[in-house]
Amino acid sequence: MPPALPTVQEGAAEIRGYRLYWKAVGDPGSKETAVVLHGGPGGTHDYVLPFADLAGGGYRVIFYDQLGCGRSDLARSVSEYSIDRDVEDLEMLRRALGLERVHLIGSSYGGLLAIAYALAYPVPVRTLVSASGLADVPLTVREMQRLKRELPPPLPEVLERHEAKGEYQHPEYLAAVLEFYRRHLCRLAEWPAELTYTLDHTSLPKYGTMNGPNEFTITGTIRDYDATARLGEIRIPTLVTTGRYDEVTPRVAESIHHGIPGSELAFFSDSSHTAFWEERPKYLGTVLGFLNAQS
Ligand code: ALA
Repeated sequence: MPPALPTVQEGAAEIRGYRLYWKAVGDPGSKETAVVLHGGPGGTHDYVLPFADLAGGGYRVIFYDQLGCGRSDLARSVSEYSIDRDVEDLEMLRRALGLERVHLIGSSYGGLLAIAYALAYPVPVRTLVSASGLADVPLTVREMQRLKRELPPPLPEVLERHEAKGEYQHPEYLAAVLEFYRRHLCRLAEWPAELTYTLDHTSLPKYGTMNGPNEFTITGTIRDYDATARLGEIRIPTLVTTGRYDEVTPRVAESIHHGIPGSELAFFSDSSHTAFWEERPKYLGTVLGFLNAQS
């Protein structure tokens, strides 16, 4: 007999007059719950769905779309899109779903959000997983600019030329951006439908406000955010993961690893920014091993 499929539940939590969509995978009676935070800022939970594999290890895994994202409501004003708001929404969602202590897993901006949440609300965080996350946006931007310069010719020149004129939607520019993504966002020859869904449904109001025109041009409101000086306050078991070709480079991951006392660093040598797709069994096995070691 094939193994039973995990239970899937979904719903919408009413948070400050906005509906936030959530989906839970795994036995509702599981003792341990993981909450997964997507990136962007402005993405959707679809591309982080491989973390549902943790349900096979006995965890209940909760995904949600952040305010302004995916199947959740748009904010009435883009001024509501901020890191602080995402932190408060997560805390309100945790309470609304009746969750006590949770394993917090954040991909990319979701990793930044997980760290910001852990600094504001350490008690409910049982463990922290920064999956290609960042804590220092200026460092991340410097590293991304380096990766951009290291692209094969003529890509750096093409990108520079259009950026100088603000032509972020020019077809030639977009083709060059895709070349960057194929090297540093996801290196699989065929992108998973869930990743494509997230890229196609990224919230332009939120991404444009907080991030910028594309992954390596972070000119939005998070551009100066840097939590490095506060990482030492985090006394929570933490796993930091990174890919060799990651657009949020191993140097960024190392700065988080050095900042959080006792944290572990896992390096995925065949991956870029989505190791949970690019090396799925190994990646989820590493995360499961980490979670189990803390339980
Ligand atoms: N734009 C990056 C992300 O995926 C930081 O969240």
